[in-house]
Amino acid sequence: MAVTLKRVDLTEAEQLLALRQQTFFDAFAAQNDPVHMQAYAEKVFTIENTIAELSNPESEIYFALVDNEVAGYVKLNFNDAQTEPQGSEALELERIYVLEKFQGQKIGKYLMDYAINKAIETNKKYIWLGVWEHNQKALAFYHSKGFVVFGSHPFKLGTDNQNDLLMKKLL
Ligand SMILES: CC(C)(COP(=O)(O)OP(=O)(O)OC[C@H]1O[C@@H](n2cnc3c(N)ncnc32)[C@H](O)[C@@H]1OP(=O)(O)O)[C@@H](O)C(=O)NCCC(=O)NCCS
Repeated sequence: MAVTLKRVDLTEAEQLLALRQQTFFDAFAAQNDPVHMQAYAEKVFTIENTIAELSNPESEIYFALVDNEVAGYVKLNFNDAQTEPQGSEALELERIYVLEKFQGQKIGKYLMDYAINKAIETNKKYIWLGVWEHNQKALAFYHSKGFVVFGSHPFKLGTDNQNDLLMKKLL
């Protein structure tokens, strides 16, 4: 199975928005109250916000394509686009999502390797990310790729106060 990456452009904003919503609900709806999920979704999954993300010169968003079908996406943040002030020595892997029907086929690994290589090529000292403390599958994946916990930050899903672990991998 051949995976390729395509940098998402502004003409694909609607498609990206739909993918953001679908992957988020697929990943988190089972473990969260629908009221909190809906409140979060209404705030975050807007076309304006998606266009703003695509327009930020310090972010890069890529679709993973399998036979021209979108299978997932990744969002990388540089410099001030990072969601925590980690400075120019760091690259944030803000999001990595694979659609359910494509999971377990090494597409996540492909996206992760791309992110790590991008951080190496741009001379970063480390790559980091935030992950919900109860997202066991993602935690296992990040541990297996050599990420270690270095902190945490609060995350609000609707009115539910959650805890995200911050993980980094030195390069
Ligand atoms: C986490 C995620 C990106 C991994 O992508 P993937 O394409 O399914 O994973 P891969 O096939 O590349 O496998 C990578 C590793 O993940 C783990 N993994 C994959 N599928 C798994 C499964 N069904 N159960 C448990 N672990 C699994 C394995 O450790 C695997 O390592 P291996 O190569 O030693 O087998 C994907 O499952 C996903 O999108 N999950 C939902 C969204 C999410 O939680 N994103 C992270 C938010 S912080």
